[in-house]
Amino acid sequence: MSGTFITFEGGEGAGKTTLIHALARKLQHKGHEVLITREPGGIPIAEAIRAVILNKENTAMDARTEALLYAAARRQHLAEKVFPALARGVDVLCDRFIDSSLVYQGIARGLGLEAVWSINRFATEGCMPDLTLYLDLEPEVGLKRIQANDERELNRLDLENLDFHQMVRAGYQQVAEQFNDRIVTLDADVSAEELTEQAWKLVEDKLNTKRS
Ligand code: TYD
Repeated sequence: MSGTFITFEGGEGAGKTTLIHALARKLQHKGHEVLITREPGGIPIAEAIRAVILNKENTAMDARTEALLYAAARRQHLAEKVFPALARGVDVLCDRFIDSSLVYQGIARGLGLEAVWSINRFATEGCMPDLTLYLDLEPEVGLKRIQANDERELNRLDLENLDFHQMVRAGYQQVAEQFNDRIVTLDADVSAEELTEQAWKLVEDKLNTKRS
């Protein structure tokens, strides 16, 4: 049986990384093999693409260029890392996926959902996550968490103004409602333990429905 593909979405500082590691430990405890990854996922070609997108000096980047580059990095990461793992029966936990593009490029940058879907359909060949957990959090709270974390340097997109982050949150809420058969919203303004507990119930349900 192929592995389960779970993606994690949310604004800056929502706690995706901590949650992913906690869920991975629980899956491993159940005997599952797990791959933790994030786009661009250590794939040199995709890393090179991402470096262009996140470079603070690239202020002239056109919104469509940005969307195409994200889709290209996504494709390479899928082809080299995610598809082979799923085929081997490994569960894949991925920090950000297609919904990030729908929200950031489609809604916040104003390209429209259909345009972003169309390039991503090509990139993913229709491969969608079994489950997507959206961690919903006030942007102010998320940005404060990032600033308090010395290990994490602020990147170009972190520095966008608060209106942008509020638009991102509204965008996620819209996308989560539109794809509510796949995306589940979790309130991220709770302790890491509580968030893990809620997320784990959803993951277990998904594993059970996949098995039956
Ligand atoms: P990253 O440093 O990975 O941030 P985070 O820890 O919040 O995931 O930077 C990713 C940034 O890129 C983040 O601001 C969201 C943005 N992004 C898009 O705009 N579109 C996409 O398709 C993806 C995957 C990310």
